[in-house]
Amino acid sequence: MLAQLPDGFTTLVTGAGGGIGRAAVDALLASPRPGRVIGVSRRPGPRDDARFESLDADLTTPEGREILVDYLDGTPLHLTFNTIGTLHDETLGIHPEKKLDDLDAEAMAHLFHVNATTPALLLQTLQSSLKGRHPALVASLSARVGSIEDNRLGGWYAYRASKAAHNMLMRTAAVELRRLNPTLTVVCLHPGTTDTELSRPFQARVPKHKLFTPEFVAERLLAVLGERELGGAASFHDWAGDAVAW
Ligand SMILES: NC(=O)c1ccc[n+]([C@@H]2O[C@H](COP(=O)([O-])OP(=O)(O)OC[C@H]3O[C@@H](n4cnc5c(N)ncnc54)[C@H](OP(=O)(O)O)[C@@H]3O)[C@@H](O)[C@H]2O)c1
Repeated sequence: MLAQLPDGFTTLVTGAGGGIGRAAVDALLASPRPGRVIGVSRRPGPRDDARFESLDADLTTPEGREILVDYLDGTPLHLTFNTIGTLHDETLGIHPEKKLDDLDAEAMAHLFHVNATTPALLLQTLQSSLKGRHPALVASLSARVGSIEDNRLGGWYAYRASKAAHNMLMRTAAVELRRLNPTLTVVCLHPGTTDTELSRPFQARVPKHKLFTPEFVAERLLAVLGERELGGAASFHDWAGDAVAW
């Protein structure tokens, strides 16, 4: 697993209480290679593994990011695996838009905040842990619907646009972060449709073989990350390892 990273590498998984985040923590702990796996979540859960550290923080808030930066205290991070993201929110009455008439400024601002601004502010927060000469991979979950070139179906305005913004912010940060650490490599990842809370209301029309388990996706995404050359330009890859058009 992740042969570019040293034995005993340190990993940060954000959104560790979500479907893919939880599975990523499990997949990492199933390998002897990581030395520390730090999971950050608004609903942290323990694991029966001394290498796992659970942090209770909401990284969409300044207070949550402050908790994280204090906790890390400049610890070098080898793998940052951000899985925070949202598509719908029943409590806020947010559903993906089908047409222009469905657009709502507050709903759009919420999706942009969680899907684009938060991952960028996370990288801002992590600078002291990313800088240096240690091998560093930064992965952040995007979505193929965020590909501008690939957009033929339309719909899902806020989610698509927030993921496109996510990708631009990750690619922009990659240019700057490589000055802080020449090995640092940023990868935006499309997991494929995965059986989690996020996709649940939209699974009916997904053929069974195209609906992946979080466990499969976590294994695949870590394998895809393992194929990335350190120090390369930011990229956008799917679960199969294929490049996705920006
Ligand atoms: N599932 C799919 O089919 C699919 C397809 C394409 C892309 N993706 C992307 O993959 C990533 C992971 O998604 P998932 O399927 O694992 O979804 P999920 O089970 O809903 O997990 C997403 C996690 O993001 C964090 N989060 C979401 N809304 C938040 C909010 N308002 N405030 C603070 N934290 C919030 C939460 O982390 P905590 O609970 O740990 O705090 C949540 O558990 C997302 O970026 C998603 O856009 C998923």
